[in-house]
Amino acid sequence: MRYSLSDSETCNVAESPNRCSSTNLSLFFSATAGDMMSLNRRQLLTGFGLTGVLGLSVLAWQRRLAGAAIAPQMISSAANLQSPQGEPLLRFAAVADAGMGNAGQYAVANAMTAYRQQQPFSLVILAGDNIYTNGEIEKIAAVFERPYATLLAQNVSFRACLGNHDIRTANGTAQLAYPGFNLPARYHSFQQGPVQFFVLDTNNNADWTTQLQWLDRELAASTASWKIVFGHHQIYSSGRYGIDRQRRQLLVPHFRQHGVALYINGHEHHYERSQSLDGTTYLICGGGANLRPVGRSPWTAYATSQLSFAIFEVYADQIVVSGIGTDARPFDHGAIARPVA
Ligand SMILES: [Fe+2]
Repeated sequence: MRYSLSDSETCNVAESPNRCSSTNLSLFFSATAGDMMSLNRRQLLTGFGLTGVLGLSVLAWQRRLAGAAIAPQMISSAANLQSPQGEPLLRFAAVADAGMGNAGQYAVANAMTAYRQQQPFSLVILAGDNIYTNGEIEKIAAVFERPYATLLAQNVSFRACLGNHDIRTANGTAQLAYPGFNLPARYHSFQQGPVQFFVLDTNNNADWTTQLQWLDRELAASTASWKIVFGHHQIYSSGRYGIDRQRRQLLVPHFRQHGVALYINGHEHHYERSQSLDGTTYLICGGGANLRPVGRSPWTAYATSQLSFAIFEVYADQIVVSGIGTDARPFDHGAIARPVA
């Protein structure tokens, strides 16, 4: 079977009403009548509007519908885990949608530097939209090298993936070649301590067929204690774009089959940590430079629209996730149990 995502003038209002304000996707093989209500862009712009009170009511509507799409038995928490003892096997950070060079990016970057002085880490996941607005590599000093200068000088390594803004110039090729992003291919894998990371290209124009075959093969072959996947686009979200039904269909079965504990993404400009959904926690860390509102779904463990980044502390039996604000203090903690693969 071939898988592809493409632009469409229709959108899935039932799953992601707010997503209808931007590019929408159709998954060719899964278009089924009756499980979604589709309106074209003109009808949406006329009927709903995109701002203010109407935008908020659409958010509330989306929250109800997003919750309805999840069977309660999928949701679990790690409440029975004991608090971890001692130093973690690995600590790393993640941030997304950060490449603006604005005051927000500097505030988060400075908080990362301050936090690191107390809780050292040497890896940062940069989960896409690394260079706004069009992935212009000539902006790299303004949107990456200067904001993160202190971290880079301390040999912190960044590992990027490609966001939708990054591929607007030459399909992101220059970012693949940029050493500071450590992105040798559009999708690839690397190991760090007890974790194998799987980096995805979640863009519409990705080679989904080959990439998914690769992902399935690599996840099956992995002997790592922990498998973590990251890509730019959300799967579960209570923000502007909501649940991405197409990417959920493509990716979640692989996560479930192979015991992926965590999926990290941006695209949504807020922080949101899901409960464990069929063994996988979904962590949005898109508050790296600017913000959009976020609601809450029944599967949401924590959601907030604030400038922030995420910290992950990996132990043998659990990963502790923390949301960190611009004051370099945690506003959220959650534990992730090791999935039973
Ligand atoms: Fe994005």
